[in-house]
Amino acid sequence: ATTLGAAAAGVGRYFGTAVPAGKLGDAQYAGILDREFTMITPENEMKWDTTEPSRNHFNFGPADQIVSHANAHNQRMRGHTLVWHSQLPGWVSGINDANTLRSVMDNHITTEVTHYRGKIYAWDVVNEAFADDGSGQLRSSVFRNVLGTGFVEEAFRTAHAADPAAKLCYNDYSIEDWNSAKTQGVYKLVRDFKSRGVPIDCVGFQSHFGNGGPPSNFRTTLSNFAALGVDVQLTELDIASAPPTAYANTVKDCMSVSRCAGITVWGIRDSDSWRSGESPLLFDRNGNKKPAYNAVLTAL
Ligand code: XIL
Repeated sequence: ATTLGAAAAGVGRYFGTAVPAGKLGDAQYAGILDREFTMITPENEMKWDTTEPSRNHFNFGPADQIVSHANAHNQRMRGHTLVWHSQLPGWVSGINDANTLRSVMDNHITTEVTHYRGKIYAWDVVNEAFADDGSGQLRSSVFRNVLGTGFVEEAFRTAHAADPAAKLCYNDYSIEDWNSAKTQGVYKLVRDFKSRGVPIDCVGFQSHFGNGGPPSNFRTTLSNFAALGVDVQLTELDIASAPPTAYANTVKDCMSVSRCAGITVWGIRDSDSWRSGESPLLFDRNGNKKPAYNAVLTAL
């Protein structure tokens, strides 16, 4: 195969990227997007501050543009993200009454998932809920602090009711190393959900790596999660300075686990990246393939 999407399809996977609506009109950008990628994640357009900037006033216009582009080009969509402490409007983070916050969260999930019912391959239902402090517990957020730790289960059950066919993922960063408390915290959450029948289908490993690439036990982490009965996905891959070997190792880790459903890189050209100073992507600012591109294509 001569493109990332075709090579991934040849091994039963997808290859995706993050897309901001504002770049769809850039011909060079859209040309690469539609040639190489089979899955799209809106970079910001499905986040709470865009979709529900004030209570019960929903704005799906920017994300709808991306979904209609995907439909026109035979690309599938990852929905990102329903419940997250960041890019959260102040009217939500200021709620201190549990009954109010529960109904606000459930209404947000139900309305957004219903709007896109049938059009989303997988939703990042809850994003980055675990702490980085070595506790293996949920981080402080309005959701945990006002609703308690059960907000995660509530969010998954509510999303499932609104679109029973969409895969529902928990998504986080720094959960790639098996020997980290954060990874173990997420693992216990997924194990508990599976044992009690709480609807969860996948775990997203953001995979924002330094220039060394993934931890050596990343494939162990992926296979241990898959053994719980969930798909695993690499959802936001980027690697500082994009060493070809680091990218190849990451792809091989996914390929080593049959339930690793696909890989999404967090942007197309280095100039599109949220880490643009680190040149972490597969295409340079002129849209040319970097050495890491060829390493990925070969590893698929
Ligand atoms: C980033 C976007 O790339 C930026 O444009 C935005 O300013 C901040 O968010 N984890 C996530 C993504 O789950 O949504 C974040 O995306 C990167 C970190």
